[in-house]
Amino acid sequence: AKTHHQTFVVSDTPYSRLCSNKSILTVNGKFPGPTIRVTEGDTIAIVVANRAKENITIHWHGVKQPRYPWSDGPEYITQCPIRPGTNFSQKIVLSDEIGTMWWHAHSDWSRATVHGALIVYPRIKNDYPFPVPDEEVPIIIGEWWKSDVFAVLNEFLASGGGPNISDAYMINGQPGDLFPCSKKDTFKLKVEQGKRYLIRMVNAVMNNIMFFRIAGHNVTIVGSDGAYLKPFTSNYIAISPGQTIDFLFVADQNPSHYYMASRAYAVVGDFNSNTTTARVEYAGNYTPPASPELPTLPNFTDTAASVNFTAQFRSLAYENHPINVPLDVTTKLLFTLSINTRNCPNSDCGGPDGNRLLASVNNITWQSPGIAILQAYYQSVNGVFEDNFPSNPPFPFNYTADFVPQDLWEPQNGTRVRMLDFNATVELVFQGTSTARSPLDHPMHLHGHSFYVVGWGYGNFNSTRDPPNYNLIDPPLQNTIAVPRAGWTAIRFVANNPGVWLMHCHFERHITWGMEMTFITRNGKGPNDTMLPPPSDFPMC
Ligand code: C2O
Ligand code: CU
Repeated sequence: AKTHHQTFVVSDTPYSRLCSNKSILTVNGKFPGPTIRVTEGDTIAIVVANRAKENITIHWHGVKQPRYPWSDGPEYITQCPIRPGTNFSQKIVLSDEIGTMWWHAHSDWSRATVHGALIVYPRIKNDYPFPVPDEEVPIIIGEWWKSDVFAVLNEFLASGGGPNISDAYMINGQPGDLFPCSKKDTFKLKVEQGKRYLIRMVNAVMNNIMFFRIAGHNVTIVGSDGAYLKPFTSNYIAISPGQTIDFLFVADQNPSHYYMASRAYAVVGDFNSNTTTARVEYAGNYTPPASPELPTLPNFTDTAASVNFTAQFRSLAYENHPINVPLDVTTKLLFTLSINTRNCPNSDCGGPDGNRLLASVNNITWQSPGIAILQAYYQSVNGVFEDNFPSNPPFPFNYTADFVPQDLWEPQNGTRVRMLDFNATVELVFQGTSTARSPLDHPMHLHGHSFYVVGWGYGNFNSTRDPPNYNLIDPPLQNTIAVPRAGWTAIRFVANNPGVWLMHCHFERHITWGMEMTFITRNGKGPNDTMLPPPSDFPMC
């Protein structure tokens, strides 16, 4: 295995999109940021040099960081931010991850522009469990506000309602032909007839699950979240923020120009309803159409199109690709995911009935501590967090009904963690709720682990009826899973990674509202079952 030395210089950089200029945070001046390409089991030694005016942290989404939470990145969970003018040396050790993952800022809303793809190749070149592609192409779906994202965040915090909607979605940093001033920079994928392309897709959008489709072509999904999948064919993709999807497509149509397009899936609230496009352009001698064919995307509110897509995911689960789903569960957890409201002093907040919106897990709204949880845990600093995060909702209720008990209108604030014993086998059921009258899908992401998605359904989880139907044969291995609207999802994982690990909804507005909690996995007894010490330039608080 090889060590890749890299430097990420974070700076404020002028960028122009949608006929307007602003300064954005970038890595090495690039937006989207640099693609990192490594091989299974390699190490990335990266110096993050903050030369911007804002604080920053960098998270390696989907990388397990075995025994080394120090490099994980979430602000006030594992580290204090890297202050302007300072550096932090992160060491990222890859273990069994393969395929596409990504890195992104994990402080305030800076991940809007600070993100890039991380591609992990198999040890043996082209040793793929699917037909070998002729070319590999990263596609990052992003989101752009003409205003400064920190201004958007501050306005959002002040309003008590939802954030201002963005001005465009983007494919590889470009809004596409349908927007003024964009046409000449639209991302173009040049293809040759008969060739096969592996698209490595990242959803770096802040607040929406996205649909994506290439006009005239089917695609074959072969991986997600740094693990392979049993290949299946579809004419569209649904991808959650945080999620990655690897898919093949063959340039098997008449040589011409075709649009690929992406737009949001959203059932309630304000969202950007624009479609972003990029182009597939075949090589050859032909007259391209003045305006290429646009693909038909699922409707904005098509929950089935979003949920049913992911429901097709299956692990390979054969010979060289065994699965390891825990069959005996030592720790059972049921976490409700809620949007809540809180009284607004002068009743002029932007939420329902003039209240302030917030969010919770098991009715606890995460309160960011003054020093990072990892530091407090490692140095045994008392009073930073409590280790009593509830394993179950405060009391059972009809989670998805129109009526919500009054006790749940206002969640409690808390910096409460759930301790896990080393090698605990955990089953965690996420239960969506209709509190604040808005059942939504929540793309839940766990740091430090991948988990098997063993079951899901609409309505209330039933601990007698549902577990017998779990898929324990070939469940997909994910790190981000969209819990269906007014429904539930069950995951299983082994707590074999000692450290401090954040879990949260990957909608940025929901994490800002407090839909997050933290697991701490205790050290095991063996010499290789304990957390490693921090690096010397670790940004302590
Ligand atoms: Cu993709 Cu906590 O993050
Ligand atoms: Cu959410």
